[in-house]
Order: sequence, then structure tokens, then C-alpha cells
Amino acid sequence: MNQDFEPAILAFVCNWCTYTAADLAGTSRMTQQPNVRLVRMMCTGMVDPKYVIKSLLSGADGVLISGCHPGDCHYQNGNYKARRRVRLLNEILSQFGIDRRRVRLTWVGASEGQEFAATVNNFINDLRELGPLDSRGLAAL
Ligand code: FES
Repeated sequence: MNQDFEPAILAFVCNWCTYTAADLAGTSRMTQQPNVRLVRMMCTGMVDPKYVIKSLLSGADGVLISGCHPGDCHYQNGNYKARRRVRLLNEILSQFGIDRRRVRLTWVGASEGQEFAATVNNFINDLRELGPLDSRGLAAL
């Protein structure tokens, strides 16, 4: 593991659950590493796979997508769509030599600030193990 490497993470988070949890983690002064930039979406179902690919091509070492728990989506089935898309996206990315651990889908509810902080910290640690992303293979996509 490269302890000097600071991975850059882009996180697409659902407004209703994970964004609120991230806010709660901040207001509760929970400790998390500063490597993540949040993009607030109304629902994980709105995360187009192109956004993920563009993020990886633009310097992100990993992408987190996080929203409401299954059954709790405010748009009924957006998170199920996200789950199907991430599965397919990971199949495609692995064809281009991108480790599937670089794109992570999680469910973090609005009251789970601690879970959000732990999710981010675990993702950062996993990305440190993987090292910087070489996205040259992706450029052909
Ligand atoms: S509204 Fe949160 S995942 Fe759909």
C-alpha cells in the first residue's frame, strides 16, 4: 500500500439519503479523510454510466455512488436501476483493465452519518491499495 498516494474520489450521492448522511457526518464532526468530492443527485437512478467514465477519465481514482437503501428510493426504483447499471458498467470497465473495486455502489440512509464516514474511509483505503488509476485504456471507450 502506498501511504503517500492520496486518491481522488468523486461521489454521486442521492439528495434524500446519502447527501443527508454526509451532512450529518459533517455536523456531528465525524472524522473523515478529505479525498472525496460530492455531487448531489436527486436519485442514484440519475447517475448515467457516462458520468462515471468521464470522472475516471478526468482524474478520479475511484467513483462512489450512494443512495437510499433498497425499498426506500423516493422515486420507487431508481436505486435498483443504479444497481443494474453499476453491474454492467463494472463488466465493461474490467474489459478495459479497470479494477471493479474502483466503482462502488453503497446504500447509506439519511440517519447513517457514521456509516457514510466509514464508507468513505474504507473506499479511500482500498484505493490506496490499488494505487493511482491509469485511465489510458479507457480513453478508447
Ligand atoms: S431517491 Fe435515493 S436512491 Fe432514489
